[in-house]
Amino acid sequence: MESKIKFPLIVVNLKTYVEAMGERAVKLAAIAETVSKRTGVCIAVAPQTVDLRSVIASTKTPVFSQHIDSVGYGKYTGHTLPEAIADSGCVGTLISHSERRLGLDLIEASVERAREVGLLQVVCVDTVEKGRAVAPFKPNIIAIEPPELIGTGTPVSKARPEVVSGAVEAVQSLDPNIKVLCGAGITSGEDVASALKLGAEGVLVASGVVKADDPYSKLLELAEAVSL
Ligand code: G3P
Repeated sequence: MESKIKFPLIVVNLKTYVEAMGERAVKLAAIAETVSKRTGVCIAVAPQTVDLRSVIASTKTPVFSQHIDSVGYGKYTGHTLPEAIADSGCVGTLISHSERRLGLDLIEASVERAREVGLLQVVCVDTVEKGRAVAPFKPNIIAIEPPELIGTGTPVSKARPEVVSGAVEAVQSLDPNIKVLCGAGITSGEDVASALKLGAEGVLVASGVVKADDPYSKLLELAEAVSL
């Protein structure tokens, strides 16, 4: 696995939040770098495609793309070419995020294309069954996120602990090399600590950091909880 990424891992998904585009994406990546240096916890960000190069140029924070399309060079107007994402300096990509859902065929094709170009693959799933279904594609990481909890502030680790532990168990019994993250509703250090206790090797978080009054203090709180 790409050495810029270590576990436990915190991935901050910037989505299309107004607080996290353009210069603000660069600023959040700088915050992630500072918090990571201070705590020793690996923190990555996933900005919008248009912001990838400016974020990568300005920080050592590892960067994931939010999406790739399983296309090749040529006649694919409007698609996101895996080679272009790798060329931008991204370490990896999210695949089939709940807000950019793909069918199983396209997930498999995207994992393959990402692997071909050297991008780490984080496949997002909404259920334990889906985790089981995508594990044979051998992505580096599977992230379990119940969609109904996304953006609610009600953490998956408290509201649906069985989904987190169930995904860890299901995925790792099929392939112990796949790391499992969890996400949805994570807003506190306690939520991160509970996720890790349930067997997740990190978290995927968005609004809890991006929309926090003080994203630096919030991210610090989340990262410090990794060693609780
Ligand atoms: O990708 C992370 C995400 O879907 C979770 O969102 O806002 O609940 O942390 P949020």
